[in-house]
Amino acid sequence: MKPVKVGLLGLGTVGTGVVRIVEGHQEDLSSQVGSPIVIEKIAVRNIDKLRNIAVDHSKLTDDPWDVIRDPEIDVIVEVMGGIDSTKEYLLEALDRGKHIVTANKDLMALHGAEILAKAQEKQCDVFYEASVAGGIPIIRTLIEGFSSDRIMKIMGIVNGTTNYILTKMSREGASYDEVLREAQQLGYAEADPTSDVEGLDAARKMAILGSLGFRTDVELSDVSVRGISQVTKEDIAYAKRLGYEMKLLGIAERQDDEITISVQPTMVKQSHPIASVNGVFNAVYVYGEAVGETMFYGAGAGEMPTATSVVADLVAVVKNLKLGVNGLKAIIPYKTKKLKTDEQ
Ligand code: NAP
Ligand code: HSE
Repeated sequence: MKPVKVGLLGLGTVGTGVVRIVEGHQEDLSSQVGSPIVIEKIAVRNIDKLRNIAVDHSKLTDDPWDVIRDPEIDVIVEVMGGIDSTKEYLLEALDRGKHIVTANKDLMALHGAEILAKAQEKQCDVFYEASVAGGIPIIRTLIEGFSSDRIMKIMGIVNGTTNYILTKMSREGASYDEVLREAQQLGYAEADPTSDVEGLDAARKMAILGSLGFRTDVELSDVSVRGISQVTKEDIAYAKRLGYEMKLLGIAERQDDEITISVQPTMVKQSHPIASVNGVFNAVYVYGEAVGETMFYGAGAGEMPTATSVVADLVAVVKNLKLGVNGLKAIIPYKTKKLKTDEQ
C-alpha cells in the first residue's frame, strides 16, 4: 500500500501532539484509510531546538517552502500559526494540488473565504476543525449535524486560556498574572497571549462559528469584543455572592435577517450549565429552531485534545483522497445572503 505523505508545518504544542497520535495510533489510522500515513517533512523555526519528542532530524527544515514544494507530499498539516506568510504557503500548496488541515483560527477568520475558494477551484480539501474549541468537533456539527435546521443562537466559552484564568481566580483567588503564566506553560495560550486575554482569539472563533451556523460571511469586524484584562478578583467574588460566575462568553444571535455577535466577560447564573464549565474546558451551546437546545463540552486547548481534531481532519482528507472525492461540499458552508450585523 502506497503511504500517504504528510508535510507538517510546526512542531510546537499542537504539532507534537499530531506526531504522537499519528505514530501512536498508526495501526488504527492506517486500517481506517487503507494505507500508512507518514509524516515526511516538518518545518520548524529552529531545527536545533531541544524538543520533548524524538523526531528524525533529517525530516526537519527551517524553510516551510521545502515542505510546500515537495512533490511527494499529499497533505499539508499547518500548526505553526501566523497569518500573511502562512496564507501564502497554503495558497501555494493548494495551487500544487495539496490538501490542507489547519488549526489556525486567525487565518481562517480573516482569510478563510479566499482559502476555501482556492480549494474549491483546485478541488482540494481544507479542513479546520481544531481552529475552534480544541477537541470539540463543533465545526463538523454545525455544517453536517445541523444542516437541516435554522440556527438561531450560538453561545459559548471558546477560549481555554481565559476560562482557566477566570476559574483559578474564582476558586483559588489566584492572581491574574500568575495564572496567565501557568496557562502559557501548559501550552494553552497563543504565542502572543494578548489575543487570548483581550478576547480577540474568542472573537475569531465566534466569527467562524457564526459564518458556519448562520451560513453567511461573518467578518471579524462584525464581532464586538471585550476581554478579561480588566476583570478583578473583586468583580469575580461580587458576581459569586450574587449567584453568578464570571465567564468570557461569545454570543451570536440571529433575528430574521440580522445577526449580533459579541465576546465579553459575562455574569452567568450559577444554575446555567455554562457556569460550571471550568479550567481549560470549553462549551458551545447551540439553539436551533427545530432541534431546540444542545450543548457540546470538552477540552478547548492543549496538546492532545487539539491534535485529536487535527488528526481526525487528516483522516477525513485521506479517506477523500482514497475515494477520489472532496469533502468540500460538506466543509464549505452553503452561503446565503450576507446578513446584517449591528456593528455595520
Ligand atoms: P507553538 O507551540 O508556538 O508552535 C509553533 C510551531 O511552529 C513551533 O514548532 C515553531 O518552531 C513553528 N514555527 C512558527 N513559525 C514558523 C515559521 N515561520 N517557520 C517555520 N516554523 C515555524 O504553537 P501551538 O500552540 O502549537 O499553536 C499552533 C497553531 O495551532 C496556532 O495557529 C494556534 O492558534 C493553533 N491552536 C493552538 C491550540 C493550543 O492549545 N495550543 C489549540 C487550537 C489551535 P520552533 O519549535 O522551532 O519554535
Ligand atoms: N489560545 C487558545 C485558547 C488555544 O486558549 O483557547 C485554543 O484555540
